[in-house]
Amino acid sequence: MRDRHGRKIEYLRVSLTDRCNLACTYCNPDRNFSLLPHEELLTLEEIGLVVRAFSRLGLKKVRLTGGEPLLRKGIVDLVARLYAIEGIEEVCLTTNGVLLGDHADALFRAGVRHVNISLDTLNPERFKEVTGRDEFHRVISAIHKVIDLGFSPVKVNTVLLKGVNADELHSFVEMTITHPIEWRFIEFMPIGTHCRWTEGDVFTTDEAKERIEARFGPLEEVYPRGKWHGPARLFRVKGARGLIGFISPISHHFCDTCNRLRLTPEGRLRLCLFSDKEIDIKGPIRSGMDEAGLSSFLKEVVYNKPLGPMAEEREPGCNRAMRAIGG
Ligand code: 5AD
Repeated sequence: MRDRHGRKIEYLRVSLTDRCNLACTYCNPDRNFSLLPHEELLTLEEIGLVVRAFSRLGLKKVRLTGGEPLLRKGIVDLVARLYAIEGIEEVCLTTNGVLLGDHADALFRAGVRHVNISLDTLNPERFKEVTGRDEFHRVISAIHKVIDLGFSPVKVNTVLLKGVNADELHSFVEMTITHPIEWRFIEFMPIGTHCRWTEGDVFTTDEAKERIEARFGPLEEVYPRGKWHGPARLFRVKGARGLIGFISPISHHFCDTCNRLRLTPEGRLRLCLFSDKEIDIKGPIRSGMDEAGLSSFLKEVVYNKPLGPMAEEREPGCNRAMRAIGG
């Protein structure tokens, strides 16, 4: 499936819930949870239907995200259901890791290999300040557990925030020396933070790379041969077991190679992270549209995926909280 800009769209991120068991200051700054009523959420059957309709158009990869996706009952069954769809090659997960230790075995058995864990600090006290919960040790032990179980790649996402965690850069990098982890530094984006974000808040990946190299020496760039090369540029400290990734949506946008779509928990298709324009899918499904009908509807919608604000030289911005989009 190609859009009008020639981008090949093969990747869908499905947000399973807007609930989260953490309340990170930058993602849910008011710590205010106005949650969707359960009947507003797409059911697991409906998610299966959307993915089947998309698979007819060439969808290959699905990522389950949230809120916190492991709060959604039936997630392991959903993984199995999605793997049974012809054409779906990979189902992966983005989680905050709090519940990951409890579900890791079952997820592995269902076929998940690729997990991304969001973790912004290696300091337990700071973790409590940023997330509002004292769960640091559970997250760290989940990271060790998924490595031991054989998940690969195991990626950790860290949003670099000036004055919050930038002083821990060297400790994050040290984790990649001793562990087979891909530690990814993400530039802070203006998502659901329209009144608080300014460009000056962004700790750029160029600055991070410079600081890392000053301490660890020149980084060697790694060119992954994987099927879906995401937006991260990858590097390795000489001799390290793991990798460092830089995701730079602000300083080096990647709109022109954006291959992804997002499905919100209440069944709306979001064509661009930075655009609040969403297309309702649940309405058509609940009024009886079948798989073939849905597939042609989606084809039309996806064709019109916007290029992206940065590529169009407009201000990026999105009013909806990241919590309900899932990254
Ligand atoms: N900018 C950049 N990354 C963000 N995330 C959440 N909010 C933002 C933001 N405003 C990250 C989370 C998670 C990933 C899915 O997105 O930390 O790792």
